[in-house]
Amino acid sequence: ETIEWDPEDAGKSGYDHYMLKEIHEQPTAIRQCLHERVVELEREIAVDSVASLSVPDRVQLVACGTSYHAALYGTRLLRERGVPATAFLASEYDVDAVPVDRETLVIGVTQSGETADTMTALREANSVGATTLAVTNVVGSSAARECDRAMYVRAGPEIGVAATKTFVSQQIALVVLASELTGEYDVDLVGALRDLPGQLQSVLDDSRARTVAEEYLDADAYFFIGRSYNAPVALEGALKMKEITYKHAEGFAAGELKHGPLALVTDRTPVFALVTEGANPTKTIGNVKEVETRGAPVVAVTDGCSDVERYADFVLEVPETHPALAPVLANVQLQLVSYWVANDLGRSIDKPRNLAKSVTVE
Ligand code: G6P
Repeated sequence: ETIEWDPEDAGKSGYDHYMLKEIHEQPTAIRQCLHERVVELEREIAVDSVASLSVPDRVQLVACGTSYHAALYGTRLLRERGVPATAFLASEYDVDAVPVDRETLVIGVTQSGETADTMTALREANSVGATTLAVTNVVGSSAARECDRAMYVRAGPEIGVAATKTFVSQQIALVVLASELTGEYDVDLVGALRDLPGQLQSVLDDSRARTVAEEYLDADAYFFIGRSYNAPVALEGALKMKEITYKHAEGFAAGELKHGPLALVTDRTPVFALVTEGANPTKTIGNVKEVETRGAPVVAVTDGCSDVERYADFVLEVPETHPALAPVLANVQLQLVSYWVANDLGRSIDKPRNLAKSVTVE
């Protein structure tokens, strides 16, 4: 007698969805991305693809969707190291309208390496003589071939349409890239990178995200706020929620809340606040108080750097790390909340309606 098995289920290694499997593969994805790039004994960071590249006058990152959120994060890392970097939505990148020349490094952040909007932006950049670099997950992809250089994020294959482990790998790749480009070897950062996979695992093991998801399953909308390094993660948290739950979700740089979105806040709109060391926790708590007094449930995603739990209905904890890496861990909590909301609503998590893994039309 034979046992029936579905090859698709076999690929999920016991998880109900590829997305959950891929969320759980993130510690490995980080290790793979760092492999031989962070030379621990010498406390150095080395990336082949940018070796011999002089520090560019200007860096532009072009990307779409989740990759754009990684690009925003990368921009912040570069600027903090003194490199003038700007992120563009690839569909809005226009070499006639932005200064780009031979001294510009244009980085295409694209997990598939096939996104049409990103490819068009990279071709334009090449046409005016910029140096181009693809940060991608796919060896030999169109972006890798179009660009002068390629840095692979090494997340491994991602089947779920909603990007999870490729986003984390892009974040880590950009941390490594920013260090290598500027020659800045921050000993604390290198140490924190080494600890990060284990810390991410502890988030996966102890997360209360499922409880939070169940509590707010009937919400009218979900809002996500954060500042500094956490602002791109607020955007990503909302995008993930929209993609897989079909519920209204929006992410804001926390300071923008009072300039309009606050009008949407009610007791039926939980607000997820990212409050971590080095990302303006005090000011973000000010925003938490604003929504709390309007009756909104507050879920704090925090490393314990403040007293935000006083104002929160739930706390999703992340371990303490280097300030630049806290958003990597915070994002995982948000991935899990979206996953469990979508699961409890019975959504088609791995293949959400209307969406494609890779969009090859402009
Ligand atoms: C599609 C996917 C998104 C992804 C975006 C960019 O819209 O559904 O998850 O973020 O493309 O993809 P890329 O392959 O360029 O990173």
